[in-house]
Amino acid sequence: MKLGIIGAGNVGGTLGAAWARKAGHQIMFGVRAPNADKTQELVRGIGAKAGAGTAAEAAAFGDMIVLTTPWIAAEAAIGSMGDLAGKILLDATNPLAMGPDGLGLEIGHSTSAGEKVQGWAKGASVFKTLNTTGFSNMADPVFHGVKSVMFVAGDDAANKPKVMTLVADLGFDVVDAGPLRNARLLEAHAMLWIDLALNRGQGRDFAFAIVRR
Ligand SMILES: NC(=O)c1ccc[n+]([C@@H]2O[C@H](COP(=O)([O-])OP(=O)(O)OC[C@H]3O[C@@H](n4cnc5c(N)ncnc54)[C@H](OP(=O)(O)O)[C@@H]3O)[C@@H](O)[C@H]2O)c1
Repeated sequence: MKLGIIGAGNVGGTLGAAWARKAGHQIMFGVRAPNADKTQELVRGIGAKAGAGTAAEAAAFGDMIVLTTPWIAAEAAIGSMGDLAGKILLDATNPLAMGPDGLGLEIGHSTSAGEKVQGWAKGASVFKTLNTTGFSNMADPVFHGVKSVMFVAGDDAANKPKVMTLVADLGFDVVDAGPLRNARLLEAHAMLWIDLALNRGQGRDFAFAIVRR
């Protein structure tokens, strides 16, 4: 599959490398400066399956598009992608901002980054996913033989199985978390991971898993 990944930082770079290596997907990173040394180095490291262009080029290239910019840049990045009608867009952002108690969610109870992204990406099918664990776990989501969980929330039932398969290609236990408005829950869940990692001594080398009987 062809994937347009908008942003080539911690999350975008990790996902691109993992999808190329584990599932043979073709990657185009969409960034503001495709020829910058750090982006070219990333592309060379992945090999023939990867390239870089503008956000519009990557969005046109991708059968699916994955948004991995900082929250503050998300609206501008989407605005630079061109016509998104009919496109599938996975939103990995978290609406983080510094508040009086430190890093927290800028929005959450009555809307979410996922729903804002849907409003900006007119005509696209937006899915919230790949936001609830650290980027290093996206490269290696299996802990002692147990797959960590990754949720997918979105309203487009016809395309959801395709999105879930793409996320499963990374090695996650993929769970349907309902409609896109449940991005409110997934972004709060992400904030819990971030708080545990940064403030409660867990570090980045842990993830959530579901156990069942
Ligand atoms: N870090 C994590 O473990 C983690 C985990 C889950 C979710 N997230 C979420 O994922 C998102 C990315 O996090 P990150 O840690 O990967 O950030 P990052 O390392 O700072 O990477 C962000 C990328 O977005 C690019 N970018 C910025 N503005 C852009 C624009 N207008 N158009 C295209 N590309 C643009 C940046 O390019 P430049 O170099 O040109 O600025 C950079 O490649 C955030 O929303 C974060 O909350 C992060």
